[in-house]
Amino acid sequence: MFPVASDFFRGYNRKERHSEVTMEFASRNYTIQIERGISLDPNTKKQVLRTFTYGLYAVSCANEGEVNIFTANWLSQISFDPPLLALSVENTSKSLPMILRSRIFTINVLRAGGRELAGKLGKSAIQHPDKLTGIAYELGANGCPILQDALGWVACTVLHTTEAGDSTLIVGEVIDVGMVGEGQPLTMAEAGFRHAG
Ligand SMILES: Cc1cc2nc3c(=O)[nH]c(=O)nc-3n(C[C@H](O)[C@H](O)[C@H](O)COP(=O)(O)O)c2cc1C
Repeated sequence: MFPVASDFFRGYNRKERHSEVTMEFASRNYTIQIERGISLDPNTKKQVLRTFTYGLYAVSCANEGEVNIFTANWLSQISFDPPLLALSVENTSKSLPMILRSRIFTINVLRAGGRELAGKLGKSAIQHPDKLTGIAYELGANGCPILQDALGWVACTVLHTTEAGDSTLIVGEVIDVGMVGEGQPLTMAEAGFRHAG
């Protein structure tokens, strides 16, 4: 009876600032204009989004004999049963096509004090093809790297993916886990990076 969100967004053009959406309700057509983000103050948007709290992780992947690892903070557990995680990966990254093809990835939980490692792995592998040089890791059962300096790791398979602006949201199911050592996890607040806003 009532229009639902999916009806509403069917005509929504994500590329344009203004979108016209027509929908039928109670046998009549209604057309509305959506103004997207036009009233957002860019500085306040950045300021508020940067108050979010995040952990810092090193996501590893493996495809066709090649491995890669990148730093990520856009990551969260999203279900207890089954255990699911959501991870947002930049569309321009080297890792995204690797993950989409292999359907696997491993999350390494970085340790407190690991800012330098996070910084190295946070570079683009396309611009810095040698970024894994000198990084100590071994391969897990799924072929993805497990960092020697990780606090723990979580191996996942890709369950769903969806477009998320300049990134792709990956929902992963946890299929294997391990602790590497004891200690505290690295947070964005400790590292002082700004990957939000
Ligand atoms: C602190 C920090 C957090 C980051 N978080 C993410 C993230 O959540 N998702 C992502 O795709 N890239 C993130 N990046 C960027 C990646 O680490 C990397 O530069 C980019 O995705 C390309 O990686 P690749 O080409 O090696 O795959 C972050 C970088 C830094 C420094």
